[in-house]
Amino acid sequence: MQRQQLVQTLFNRIAHRYDLLNRIISFHCDVRWREKTVKALSLKSSDRFVLDLGTGTGDLALTAAKRLGGEARIFGLDFSLEMLRLAQAKKKDSYGDKIAYILGTALDPPFKDEAFDAVMTAFVLRNIPDLALFFRQAFRVLKPGGRLVSLDMFPPSSAPFSFLYALYFYRLVPWIGASLAHDRNAYQYLADSVRTFNPPEAVGNMIQQAGFVRVRIEKFLKGAVCLHVGEKPPARVP
Ligand SMILES: C[S@@+](CC[C@H](N)C(=O)[O-])C[C@H]1O[C@@H](n2cnc3c(N)ncnc32)[C@H](O)[C@@H]1O
Repeated sequence: MQRQQLVQTLFNRIAHRYDLLNRIISFHCDVRWREKTVKALSLKSSDRFVLDLGTGTGDLALTAAKRLGGEARIFGLDFSLEMLRLAQAKKKDSYGDKIAYILGTALDPPFKDEAFDAVMTAFVLRNIPDLALFFRQAFRVLKPGGRLVSLDMFPPSSAPFSFLYALYFYRLVPWIGASLAHDRNAYQYLADSVRTFNPPEAVGNMIQQAGFVRVRIEKFLKGAVCLHVGEKPPARVP
């Protein structure tokens, strides 16, 4: 099976436990990190369309919906039907009206060029086999001057934190996944995807290579969690 199919199957399998395990594994910090992600998106009252790539159970989309004006709409794209089913069920509150969920791949998003004012994504990069293509697609669907924000986990490099982190994330988290989601393999994959991921600076370079400017990185937890922020250059006046 190809890597993308494996990832899709994995998220379909763990969807029902995904939110609970996120809260437990991150000690509820994932909620605050998503708030920081939306803040870094610098949403404006004139923004009409926002895209959430790999929206999962919709937590980032819902966080953004609370900040957006009445006319604005968020599109949440994901290739896991089970994750989207849960996202749809969480739309009950009034903010949910602003969100539309779409089944599809982030490597070929079904949107026309320059459709969005902002693109956001959280905890998705490590699952993507071709990150350069992922960022090129984000660039393509953004309007000139539009913003990209990505939140993700990275292997921390500074000792002794990296040692404690390895102990917790690479050893204990798969065990938590086995106990609470009854799926050790899925949470072993999660741990391995962090351990083997690129450093944040390399991801920043890829974002630049896709055409984004003013790329910056915000680090939390000694770099174990990072926000990448970039802008598509504004249109040139002839
Ligand atoms: C770790 S979850 C993150 C979900 C959500 N963004 C959050 O903040 O909790 C990763 C999500 O990305 C989705 N995903 C991974 N690769 C994808 C791809 N190529 N196209 C669309 N969705 C993808 C998975 O199905 C999964 O729902």
